[in-house]
Amino acid sequence: MFIVHRNFIIFLLSIIVRRTDSDEVHSILGTYTAVTRYEFTSVLWLDGEAVDSYSSDSAAIMPMRNWMREGDGHDLWNITRRLNMEQWDRGRTAILNDKGIRMAGAAVLQGRFGCEIELNPYLRITRTFAQFGWNGEDFLSFNFSRKKWEASVGSAVPIETKWNSDTDIIKNITFYLDFLCVRHVMRSSSYEEKESQETPQPTAALFAKRYPNTGKVILTCLVSGFRCINMTVGFYRDKDILAEKDGLLSTGIRPNGDGTCQLRKSLYISNSTEESYRCGVHFGNLTVKWDGKIWDLAVDHSKRHHYWLLAPIVLFILMLMLIWFTAVKQDKFTTEV
Ligand SMILES: *[C@@H]1O[C@H](CO)[C@@H](O)[C@H](O)[C@H]1NC(C)=O
Ligand SMILES: *[C@@H]1O[C@H](CO)[C@@H](O)[C@H](O)[C@H]1NC(C)=O
Ligand SMILES: *[C@@H]1O[C@H](CO)[C@@H](O)[C@H](O)[C@H]1NC(C)=O
Ligand SMILES: *[C@@H]1O[C@H](CO)[C@@H](O)[C@H](O)[C@H]1NC(C)=O
Ligand SMILES: *[C@@H]1O[C@H](CO)[C@@H](O)[C@H](O)[C@H]1NC(C)=O
Ligand SMILES: *[C@@H]1O[C@H](CO)[C@@H](O)[C@H](O)[C@H]1NC(C)=O
Repeated sequence: MFIVHRNFIIFLLSIIVRRTDSDEVHSILGTYTAVTRYEFTSVLWLDGEAVDSYSSDSAAIMPMRNWMREGDGHDLWNITRRLNMEQWDRGRTAILNDKGIRMAGAAVLQGRFGCEIELNPYLRITRTFAQFGWNGEDFLSFNFSRKKWEASVGSAVPIETKWNSDTDIIKNITFYLDFLCVRHVMRSSSYEEKESQETPQPTAALFAKRYPNTGKVILTCLVSGFRCINMTVGFYRDKDILAEKDGLLSTGIRPNGDGTCQLRKSLYISNSTEESYRCGVHFGNLTVKWDGKIWDLAVDHSKRHHYWLLAPIVLFILMLMLIWFTAVKQDKFTTEV
């Protein structure tokens, strides 16, 4: 296990392409973090959503989309990931082999590569990403308009000079950003669109239950049926959004077993219906309002226990009957023969 400092997360995520409302902006981004000289982890993002994660010390990569699992979709995902990773590998090797740079202690090398395109009214590359970070700070990046690598710190200058004088490297990254990545993003987004149309829309429910023994009332928000991504559920009291510090509890994202996931958030509330509560998909348009009804749970745990105690006895009787039945049958069989 390794611990990634907050800054490094910020480096990785700070420019992850926001999920736009427009269907016409699409992006691919591969993010990489070297944890030792030989090992790294990576995540591939499509339109700002993580679609797989990979660790160089484990063989299997789990794609989070059905279209990536077989056939042409699988091949597309495979090549998208492989060509993106080639860019990282070149830098990782060069930077970690550089005499002036040492991967020791808490040092972390990161990379991000990809492109963002807009399709409306015509195809246009809006952003490109080819960057390395060292200990959470910018280190070396490719300026797509100048077609030059640019060092952000002195220790990156030797690599900058070397790469800028190597036309193969410049051509290679330009071809990747300008052509391959654009092709991959266009093809992936058509698979994404198809799959999202097949995916059911999430549902949200907000209900309160009173527990008989304690008299406590717990208000639960259940959002279910979304694709298993980093869903955030907003829970509001009047106009305020509630957080963990307000006593909000979360189950975390759990699979439903059908490829979709659910997330439950709950809150102990007072035994009154005066406050108004609302919950739903954060930044989404799906929200539900609490109807103010408190359901009394009529579960009597002591009675339930009695029933459970009966179960072994019933089972025992059934077994006796079975043995008896088999014995009689066998008896009959032997007499007939
Ligand atoms: C990608 O394709 C290569 C070559 O066809 C194959 O060796 C590799 O296992 C594939 N990777 C995945 C993740 O399917
Ligand atoms: C890339 O180079 C252009 C032209 O020199 C410059 O205007 C632009 O700011 C540079 N981009 C970045 C991200 O540094
Ligand atoms: C680009 O560079 C990568 C890694 O250095 C290499 O595997 C790939 O073949 C190159 N692609 C082209 C088109 O030159
Ligand atoms: C909560 O309120 C209901 C009616 O509003 C009442 O019947 C019940 O006794 C109250 N429970 C507690 C524990 O205060
Ligand atoms: C999921 O989203 C929450 C809130 O936006 C964020 O704090 C958390 O780091 C995210 N987790 C991942 C794995 O992206
Ligand atoms: C909410 O958004 C979804 C897609 O994001 C859309 O299909 C639906 O019509 C919207 N509902 C309302 C009430 O705006």
